[in-house]
Amino acid sequence: MTLTVYVPCDSTACSLGADDVATALQTAATAKACDIKLVRNGTRGLFWLEPLVEIEHDSQRYAFGPVQESDVGGLIDALTSGDMSAHAKALGPTEDIPYLKNQERLTFARLGIINPVDIDDYIAHGGYDGLKAALDITPQAIVDEVKTSGLRGRGGAAFPTGIKWQTVLDTDADQKYIVCNADEGDSGTFADRLLMEGDPFSLIEGMTIASRAVGATRGYIYLRCEYPDAHRMLDTAIKAATARGYLGENICGSGSDFFLSVRLGAGAYICGEETSLLESLEGKRCMVRAKPPLPAIEGLFGKPTIVNNVLTLGTIPLILAKGGAYYESYGEGRSRGTQPFQLAGNLKHGGLVEKAFGVTLQTLLQDFGGGTITGLPLKAVQCGGPLGAYIPGDKDVAMDYETLAAQGAMLGHGGIVAFDENAALGKLARFAMEFCTVESCGKCTPCRIGSTRGVEVIDRILAGQETASNLALLDDLCDIMKDGSLCAMGGLTPLPVTSIRTHFPNELGDN
Ligand SMILES: Cc1cc2nc3c(=O)[nH]c(=O)nc-3n(C[C@H](O)[C@H](O)[C@H](O)COP(=O)(O)O)c2cc1C
Repeated sequence: MTLTVYVPCDSTACSLGADDVATALQTAATAKACDIKLVRNGTRGLFWLEPLVEIEHDSQRYAFGPVQESDVGGLIDALTSGDMSAHAKALGPTEDIPYLKNQERLTFARLGIINPVDIDDYIAHGGYDGLKAALDITPQAIVDEVKTSGLRGRGGAAFPTGIKWQTVLDTDADQKYIVCNADEGDSGTFADRLLMEGDPFSLIEGMTIASRAVGATRGYIYLRCEYPDAHRMLDTAIKAATARGYLGENICGSGSDFFLSVRLGAGAYICGEETSLLESLEGKRCMVRAKPPLPAIEGLFGKPTIVNNVLTLGTIPLILAKGGAYYESYGEGRSRGTQPFQLAGNLKHGGLVEKAFGVTLQTLLQDFGGGTITGLPLKAVQCGGPLGAYIPGDKDVAMDYETLAAQGAMLGHGGIVAFDENAALGKLARFAMEFCTVESCGKCTPCRIGSTRGVEVIDRILAGQETASNLALLDDLCDIMKDGSLCAMGGLTPLPVTSIRTHFPNELGDN
């Protein structure tokens, strides 16, 4: 009997030795005359257990992890004996691991389950059901379904996706574009990468549905060049989808064409800002454009363009397959559906946690994250990327857009970076300003010059020089950057500073 063994092939697991484990498993199985089928799946997103090997037994997957090459011989014995608990690294049925069991995986329903580049595996797990549904209804009905879902952009700004799509649908043009923002620049975030490496067809399908909804025939995935594995997966998946008629001319006999390709960004943080991304896609230096005009009206090459994040587009197939109301039934208030939270920094159990909006911060940090690796008290978490607010580590708050905004914080792309009591928050406030000096496109003065002056004034405060007057100067500077910058790069840079001033006055104050 052939037994199926799953070893992840994504960059996280491979950086921890998954390729070597896969090779050792195959060698050991051959030596012990054990017939195995080795499937390379994506990660499940439980990083501290990687490489996480799964064995299929009685139609159930059993997890073992973290597996090293030295564990492999024992794994083959467990495989042949049929006793899935007879191994030091045995974790029981994968789906029963509390970290996974207590999640609501909608966008990431297939993560770690399928071979990412096997289109038949994708289809066998509900893939392309969304496109099929979309091809049966009018473009307006597709947009209405997205509106019903309440989906808001997962890239950071949380703009309602259906409204953006409506604008592009309503704008007449000889050419329209779908652009996927796969720049994923926020610190502590990796969900875009996990989706592209673990379930790339879902993004491709989402973009294809978007193209049908607004009448676009060309799409680009703007991918940061630091993601070579995602690039490889996407290219392979695009080729497979094209060969099977899901991309290219006359998609599935519908009469609609959609041509999709990947473009690599060179890694500047500002390239994630949608207008500067479009400049970069056009082959120019990434400088932010003034809005209006909105990209939905004058976007790539001056044509109406949908720019959406990987997770936004990757959620679209589910919304079309199961209906907008199904997705909308998750979440709370104006934050509908689920959010893939990314736990990073000083937490025992870093990884991907997809939960309905409204889950509390402490549930994420303690129940999922397991507290700090160091065992020291959690001092602060930074939520929403390098320009997000610092929140006290013992604070509990419902994780949704409105509640966080009311606390002076933001969700951004869902990254949560934890710091223990050794964190020097004054220096982290300085880091935000310094980051802006390096990453600013330079087009507007508050961002370009303000951040440089911000570093200088924070240095003086940290050195205890004329603290009261320098703090007043810093507050003034933060107001100017927040209100006067052209985009959220300069506009959000003060947030780490002001949140630290509010919650941790001793770290950047006049003590
Ligand atoms: C400085 C800056 C960096 C950004 N980086 C990203 C990014 O890496 N990925 C992303 O999807 N959105 C990023 N955004 C947000 C985009 O400008 C835009 O809101 C998003 O691509 C729209 O897609 P969505 O509605 O699906 O979120 C960034 C914004 C700013 C101001």
